[in-house]
Amino acid sequence: MTRKIDIFDTTLRDGEQSPGASMNTEEKLVVARQLLRMKVDVIEAGFPISSPGDFESVRRIAELAGDDATVVGLTRAVEKDIDRAAEALKYAKRPRIHTGLGVSPSHLHDKLRITEDQCLERAEHCVRYAKKYMNDVQFYAEDAGRSDYDFLVKVIQRVVDAGATVVNIPDTTGYSLPAEFGRRIAYLMENVRGIENVTVSVHCHNDLGMATALALEGVKNGATQIECTINGLGERAGNTALEEVVMGIRMHGEELNAHTDINTREFAKASRLVSSITGMSVQANKAIVGANAFAHSSGIHQDGVLKKRDTYEIIDPADVGAGQSQIVLTARSGHAALKHRLEELGYEFEGDALDKVYEDFLNLADKKKEVYDEDLESLIHERDRQVSA
Ligand code: KIV
Ligand code: ZN
Repeated sequence: MTRKIDIFDTTLRDGEQSPGASMNTEEKLVVARQLLRMKVDVIEAGFPISSPGDFESVRRIAELAGDDATVVGLTRAVEKDIDRAAEALKYAKRPRIHTGLGVSPSHLHDKLRITEDQCLERAEHCVRYAKKYMNDVQFYAEDAGRSDYDFLVKVIQRVVDAGATVVNIPDTTGYSLPAEFGRRIAYLMENVRGIENVTVSVHCHNDLGMATALALEGVKNGATQIECTINGLGERAGNTALEEVVMGIRMHGEELNAHTDINTREFAKASRLVSSITGMSVQANKAIVGANAFAHSSGIHQDGVLKKRDTYEIIDPADVGAGQSQIVLTARSGHAALKHRLEELGYEFEGDALDKVYEDFLNLADKKKEVYDEDLESLIHERDRQVSA
């Protein structure tokens, strides 16, 4: 049996921090219901101290989730934040506080203006303080991706000793290369005493377009929780996309020694829902959920897919709720695709007759981005009219 990887969805917290993507409580509840249908393990519902609205969202999602998911409230390493998060999570069946602070030289010197020793003390204190409220406490080492390896070991050792149940290693700025990030996780696994008794989580940003690769490399090296968002929504270039890491694990489960319990058939719906609520459109060529993810327009590919779908598709679109592969008719399409579509419309053409229709089709396709069924119907009717004239 492979390792179970927990999917920690942060669409409602880090995703919502994406400029222009904010959601009100009712909208957050709609997304939370969809996350529960997908069977995510953990929902980060918000940052309770940040606003009364976010407090209310965390409180209501905590009630909604019941036993079905752990519900998380984010805090800084500040007592009043932790008090507020604990209050928002009071009625959760499975509450978790997510607290922490920056650990890289840039965060220590330029943002927090503290020494390494002060950072270690604050890290320990916020975990111990949160433990007064609940057992499940997750610590984040912000900007871990740019931190010193041995200092990171010290921080994580300190919070593990203080009782953290989950340690989150974020690549906050999306700076790392996948192999290096993997080595960082491996280094922690080797050097932090007792780390095998806690969950190691990875939280990666997409500034270099590598958030999915970073998360999977983290899993390969010992992480058993991935923090991610629907459509990869999130600060700047976004977070690891949930649908991408889950399908990556599905396709390479043995190699990664990993599986998830996610219901992938809900992905297309989740993507549309988050996009329409936030107003953040999904690029057509986005992996798994983009409009073109299962569309084929060149003749060579169409011929292959029509003979056997997996010649050009590694995922069955039905497995992610995206219906069927699409054959898009364009000037790059070949005879096989045209014949196939005409047959679907009830027209049979072979040999010279097919060549002639194909010629007319190409003349039309060169003038348009895509040839639709109604274009084909008019082309056939025009042809019939000329024959009978
Ligand atoms: O990117 C990050 O480091 C975060 C933390 C608050 C977990 O979002
Ligand atoms: Zn983040």
